[in-house]
Amino acid sequence: MTDPPAPSGERRAALVTGASSGIGRAIAADLLATGWGVTAVARDPERGALSGAHQVPTNVVDEGSCIAAVASHVARFDRLDLLVNAAGVGFGGPFEQASTRSFDLQFAVNVRGLFLVCRSAIPHLRASRGLVVNVASITGVAPQPGLAVYGATKHAVRGLSGAMQAELRDAGVRVTTLCPGFVDTPMTDFVKGEVPGDEMIRPADCVAAVRFLLALSPACRIPEIVIDGPTIPDLARSSAVG
Ligand SMILES: NC(=O)c1ccc[n+]([C@@H]2O[C@H](COP(=O)([O-])OP(=O)(O)OC[C@H]3O[C@@H](n4cnc5c(N)ncnc54)[C@H](OP(=O)(O)O)[C@@H]3O)[C@@H](O)[C@H]2O)c1
Repeated sequence: MTDPPAPSGERRAALVTGASSGIGRAIAADLLATGWGVTAVARDPERGALSGAHQVPTNVVDEGSCIAAVASHVARFDRLDLLVNAAGVGFGGPFEQASTRSFDLQFAVNVRGLFLVCRSAIPHLRASRGLVVNVASITGVAPQPGLAVYGATKHAVRGLSGAMQAELRDAGVRVTTLCPGFVDTPMTDFVKGEVPGDEMIRPADCVAAVRFLLALSPACRIPEIVIDGPTIPDLARSSAVG
């Protein structure tokens, strides 16, 4: 399936964070395969290098790096029709053993980094009446034992995304939060002894969700897509902590 070109006939362009691995990489690869211009953002995009992508090494913990990534995208493509924020980190384990360092890192990447990229992208999304897909998690919908801090970051992503949608709806910008359960990516390797990868949601399912959003007419607003997956083990008791 080839997506239609932008109304002007130009190639549509997307910026995808977390494009070196897992969900972000799968979405970026699908966009490239369907004719989009894609900026692939990760600390080391060469790790999962995608042929044809505009690779921009970016650490989303760094404000200047986030601003530079969006600027680099716009310099390359001159338009931003789709922003996918998939960069993320997650660590499981009992609440009382969660370190302050791990708390700070998860919030820095999952919340602050997403905020910084969104904030820089908004003027360009206004111009294109574009779409934002922020990847949260089922743990941002239903609290899970052993994923307190990670889940809190994903609740925050839902909060930011909802407010962004409310502020930008009159500008024609749509914002969807994608909330999957366990997806078979490197992030869930630590738990695959308890939940086999082939019983998890697939990155291709997240790709299908983005395709679905892109296929809708601009009047359709989908605040949230929740993909419930396999039962999540109690990671506060489990020996599998990531
Ligand atoms: N897998 C799941 O079960 C699951 C379920 C629900 C939601 N999610 C969410 O989905 C998103 C993607 O996860 P995934 O499963 O695809 O994980 P993954 O395979 O580990 O990929 C994580 C991506 O985030 C990037 N990243 C991490 N720290 C970064 C930083 N400081 N700056 C820039 N990029 C950074 C990584 O790139 P580099 O390391 O190359 O920088 C990588 O591309 C995350 O937000 C995750 O929380 C995952």
